[in-house]
Amino acid sequence: MADSECSRAPAAQEMARPMLSRRGLLKGGAALSLALALPACLGREAGAAVLSAHRGDGIVVADGYAWDLVLRWGDPLFDPADALDAGAVQKGALLRDDPQRAARQFGYNCDAVHFFPIEGSAARGIVCVNNEFTNEELFLPGLEDLETPASERVARLVRQHPQVVRLTQAMHGVSMAVIERDAAGRWRHVPGSKYARRITASTPCEITGPARGHPLMRTNADPDGARVLGTVANCAGGRTPWGTFLSAEENVDYYFGNAEALERAGPALREAYRRLGPWRTSRHAWDLVDRRFDAGSEPGECLRFGWVIEIDPYEPSSPPRKRTALGRFMHEAATPALTKDGRLAVYLGDDAKFEYLYKFVTAGRVDPADRAANRDLLDAGTLYVARFDQDGTGNWLPLRHGVEPLTSGNGFADQGDVVVKARAAADLLGATPMDRPEDIAADATSGTVYVALTKNEERRPQQVRGVFRGREVELGPNAANPRGPNPYGHIVELVENGADTAAEYFTWKILAFGGGRADGAAFGSPDNVALDDTGNLWLVTDGTQPGGGNNGCFVIATVGPDAGRAWQVLAAPAGSEVCGCEFTPDGRALLLTIQHPGEGGTLSRPLSAWPDGPGHAPRPSLIALRRKDGRPLGVGPAS
Ligand code: FEO
Ligand code: CA
Ligand code: CA
Ligand code: CA
Repeated sequence: MADSECSRAPAAQEMARPMLSRRGLLKGGAALSLALALPACLGREAGAAVLSAHRGDGIVVADGYAWDLVLRWGDPLFDPADALDAGAVQKGALLRDDPQRAARQFGYNCDAVHFFPIEGSAARGIVCVNNEFTNEELFLPGLEDLETPASERVARLVRQHPQVVRLTQAMHGVSMAVIERDAAGRWRHVPGSKYARRITASTPCEITGPARGHPLMRTNADPDGARVLGTVANCAGGRTPWGTFLSAEENVDYYFGNAEALERAGPALREAYRRLGPWRTSRHAWDLVDRRFDAGSEPGECLRFGWVIEIDPYEPSSPPRKRTALGRFMHEAATPALTKDGRLAVYLGDDAKFEYLYKFVTAGRVDPADRAANRDLLDAGTLYVARFDQDGTGNWLPLRHGVEPLTSGNGFADQGDVVVKARAAADLLGATPMDRPEDIAADATSGTVYVALTKNEERRPQQVRGVFRGREVELGPNAANPRGPNPYGHIVELVENGADTAAEYFTWKILAFGGGRADGAAFGSPDNVALDDTGNLWLVTDGTQPGGGNNGCFVIATVGPDAGRAWQVLAAPAGSEVCGCEFTPDGRALLLTIQHPGEGGTLSRPLSAWPDGPGHAPRPSLIALRRKDGRPLGVGPAS
């Protein structure tokens, strides 16, 4: 589709310094001397200013970069006849649209994106993209009153138009599509592939691992506790070495209504929900139409969400599998990295204030020669939670049933109880409450792991125990979360002992703080992250930026004298956050998703018309960021 090279920022030299590559340093400093040899550029600060101050409704990239619009919400995955008529959306057409069609389109509010090569190609592959949630006010009429809570506005609309629920359920989940790079180096969608697939809030998913069949997982519709319809709130994710997609269910509490009914539930259910139950009212009003989202009708259904699901993009008929061994919480991401002995570690963040960082390590080894042998590897292993100590060391604490304090005397009858109530188990183990762990990037070779802690305005400046969302917790700073309040977040660098991702001990330090430093670009609210081949950390943001501009994409040097310094590469359209942030296998494209362009506006009072232009509703979309010279993004200045 469209290729836009609205590069206006003279930032070639900006990109010189992040290229202080780990690889270059290891090779004896060649890359280092190249970078330092470049003269300081007057344009550097001007370029950074253009990006950081961007408040407009387009994408702005640093000099030497270009981006391709690859897939928009509503693009047909199977048949052109399924395409969304974006112009008609303005006229309220979606109120009458066919939800079946929505389930054949690229879904809404794209978040994670991972690339799965077809026949080993770095230029043609399947993308798995999470469709996290819906902003109903941006595509449905009658939701103009932004002063009224979203849940009330949407409930009012759903009472008038109950079919809206089937529509928004179909816009959630995961989209799979084939993309390819053309001869000119531009990325585009290839519709109608045999790999095209949609998973929605209604798609049957298997429940596997220790919570499969557990009494807490049984419902009227599924007395075996083995199968659940759909996945929601799919945020970031990961890619396993055997080529499956891990999709993380995050804000599942928004999807269930009538939560007060749980106060009349039995003690086991109440305890299971103590640390992650439905929010008071559903944000999307599904409970008004679909009884399983009504906690009064199906009090156990919400426990069947909040997991990491594994999807095989190469087998479109295979069921998604909710891997309960990885615990139930507000999963932000799932970042795999091989251990030294060939098992798989998966790093996991629980994105809520004062929640924890986790890691799962499989019991078995990855079989690189037999893909099928890895199919259920994620069902057995050890789930750990992180404790960060003052002295710069840390400990992964195992959530292992039968080992004190995770015993029946404390309410954990088996490992199923432990994973369903993972937060409560982590409380007992003394894990460190963090400032909202979002995405994680891990380098299996060096055992170095980067954790984006997006922010926490509720972190207090002094030590004080207090009650936060019904739980007593230390609200003051700790060594790994030293700012109270923390409005712009920070990045923690963690190095596993012995450079082994299976280690139970680590050292750690803070790589960078949001809010900026004098010699670099200021970022706020780091969310998704990825490492390039040279060891630079690429990150995208979701929240208030220190300079007041739109969200963006940044690069942070992780080694050398500039470690922790940030450069901005892209600024996003009005109202959007940037998600995705994963490289294609040859590093020549960074796949980014633009989520909720126009948020803060409504269908009739739009803040954004991106990407289609004036007169069109904004469309969350997948883009590919690349260098105009076609080289990998992590190598040398881009001009
Ligand atoms: Fe869906 Fe924590 O971002
Ligand atoms: Ca996120
Ligand atoms: Ca990532
Ligand atoms: Ca986000």
